[in-house]
Amino acid sequence: MNAHSPSKPEIGPDLKKLHIKTYGCQMNVYDSERMLDLLRPLGYEVSDRPEGADLVLLNTCHIREKAAEKVYSEIGRLKELREEKIAAGEGRMTIAVAGCVAQAEGQEIMNRAPAVDLVVGPQAYHQLPELIARTTRAKGERLAADFAPDAKFDALPNEREVSGPTAFLTVQEGCDKFCTFCVVPYTRGAEWSRPVAAILDEARRLADKGVRELTLLGQNVNAYNGADASGADSTLAKLMYALAEIPGIDRLRYTTSHPNDMGDDLIEAHRDLPAVMPYLHLPVQSGSDKILRAMNRKHGRQSYIDLIANIREARPDLALSGDFIVGFPGETDKDFEDTMDLIRQVRYAASFSFKYSPRPGTPAAAMPGQVSDEVMDARLQALQSLILEQQHDFKSALVGKTLDVLFEKPGRRDGQAIGRSPYLQSVFVENAAHLLGQIVPVRIEAVGPNSLQGALI
Ligand code: 5AD
Ligand code: SF4
Repeated sequence: MNAHSPSKPEIGPDLKKLHIKTYGCQMNVYDSERMLDLLRPLGYEVSDRPEGADLVLLNTCHIREKAAEKVYSEIGRLKELREEKIAAGEGRMTIAVAGCVAQAEGQEIMNRAPAVDLVVGPQAYHQLPELIARTTRAKGERLAADFAPDAKFDALPNEREVSGPTAFLTVQEGCDKFCTFCVVPYTRGAEWSRPVAAILDEARRLADKGVRELTLLGQNVNAYNGADASGADSTLAKLMYALAEIPGIDRLRYTTSHPNDMGDDLIEAHRDLPAVMPYLHLPVQSGSDKILRAMNRKHGRQSYIDLIANIREARPDLALSGDFIVGFPGETDKDFEDTMDLIRQVRYAASFSFKYSPRPGTPAAAMPGQVSDEVMDARLQALQSLILEQQHDFKSALVGKTLDVLFEKPGRRDGQAIGRSPYLQSVFVENAAHLLGQIVPVRIEAVGPNSLQGALI
């Protein structure tokens, strides 16, 4: 343990077990970590399993129907575990639902799942200690939803527990883009950026605990415009220049970005600031102008292709990743072929692809021309095999090269360590267990399905 981490509460009769299950994006991972930071001082200790937990927190995702439905089946399972726990004379289990399903369907959860004790939205989880105290005293008020991110960040503890040399850091929340398929503008609210000073402060604390790489998070992270020391609007690029000054912070990443917010200074930072890793997640969703218009993406196919060319001029070795939706309402074979063609032109090092999922309250859910599941399945498969090929090509081109690897954790084999390349691939290296937390040159020797293999030089 590091001198800066809070002392662990003594194991004793008062220690309560907490299980957090996190669904969805990295923002939820960050939020779950912060919920833990809030609850640890109250005597909660993390448990890997829900069995026997005094408090179970589901940090939920509303982005696609599948993700949202999982929550209800999980609540059913927890209800049974709670009954078993009570029957064994081990007391009650508090069931709390947090995250975006909580925000979007709070009341519905209450009605549909009476076993739930507490529902708390993503901007209100700083109130958890009080809410939990209230619900455990008497079942009653169970809902907290809020749209004031500044109140939340101000109320969160300064202390953060870290696990290894990489950390997420939320710098921006919310989205004003209103893509017609997406619930985020409704669940996470309007775009809002944390002030520069608060972010630098959090980053310094993380660096003090050995963090070397920060991934800056935001639903629209490149729209970041938090206030600087003089009260003026900053930019993501300026923020990264300031973060790179912090001793110990050697690597910066950011996600997720919108093409229209790729400012010139951000592109230049990819060229000029060594701490900015050569990796960019820049979703395009579709390669068809007609579909992009229906999605209200506010950019076209060619402008995206031109933008990528621009960014690659600044950073030729950039690894690009994207998000794609197949089967958006009205998508024809020709539209899908346009997406495949865009992928062939752009070339991706990784990607995330999804079948369109109609979400309640979003404009696209009511659009004509909904695409059948069979067609979506076929398109998804074709798209994913094309991307897999490109991913393999990208990795294969690294064999024989020397890359700086940040070692994050021990591997399964004795002496083995697993780290990350600048391009975000996992790299397995033998005889490197003593290098955890360090950035070390590694010669890439082979390509695995989801990783690279390398050797120390
Ligand atoms: N259906 C399918 N995929 C979606 N995404 C967002 N909303 C939907 C939806 N309704 C995908 C987009 C986005 C990623 C986070 O999730 O590709 O970039
Ligand atoms: Fe959703 Fe579009 Fe905003 Fe991304 S930019 S969070 S897809 S509305």
